[in-house]
Amino acid sequence: MFSIKTSVFLGLFAAFAAVNAAPAANADHSYAIQYDRRTGQPVPNSRRDGPSTTDLLNSCPGSSKKSSVQGADNCKWSSDGNAGSQYTKTKVIGEPIENCGNLKTNVTHTFSESTTFTSTFSLTETSEVDFPGISASLTSGISHTTTEAHGNDFSMDVPPGQHGQFTAVQYYQPQNGHVFINYGDKVDGHYYWTVYNVHLDAPSGEPVTQPEYKGCGEAL
Ligand SMILES: *[C@@H]1O[C@H](CO)[C@@H](O)[C@H](O)[C@H]1NC(C)=O
Repeated sequence: MFSIKTSVFLGLFAAFAAVNAAPAANADHSYAIQYDRRTGQPVPNSRRDGPSTTDLLNSCPGSSKKSSVQGADNCKWSSDGNAGSQYTKTKVIGEPIENCGNLKTNVTHTFSESTTFTSTFSLTETSEVDFPGISASLTSGISHTTTEAHGNDFSMDVPPGQHGQFTAVQYYQPQNGHVFINYGDKVDGHYYWTVYNVHLDAPSGEPVTQPEYKGCGEAL
């Protein structure tokens, strides 16, 4: 099982590997490298026909996908930097509010609902990895992977002839990184593996909420 000793070692190992950036290999594809337990150095030509990156990642705790590799003790995500510019995702809090009948007065609605923005992991060349399952174990080290936007009793007045909605806008920052994987027993000769070129789309900062109004003839 995962011991404190292993944990301390993995910490040192992580610090080492963070300083020594990912070995330059085909930049668009994920690949896996074995590390020597004693020296913390990559094992030369270690990839051979070992387990696939998919099997390595699916051996992480929480994955629901089958893996040919034994269950890993620990998987840790580490960012190698931004991969592209920020973009936004918008979500509607609660339901849109209509005032499109014959009312001459405002329709007022108070929002108490909330919505969440989550992170997603992916690999360029495969979708066969259970990232939702393993993300909890992968994300240690990231300050937050999920943000929440609350209605907070925001009261919306929708005038006659309009409809409106209360939206939350979240910035996302795409990143590339690698995943350290630690096994209780050797996998193809080694306790430590690292999968490179894993992509993460994570929320950046907190979501911003705002009301939005349109005439009844226009789509929200
Ligand atoms: C109706 O809502 C608008 C804002 O959308 C507000 O300016 C106006 O005062 C409201 N009217 C009444 C009667 O509450």
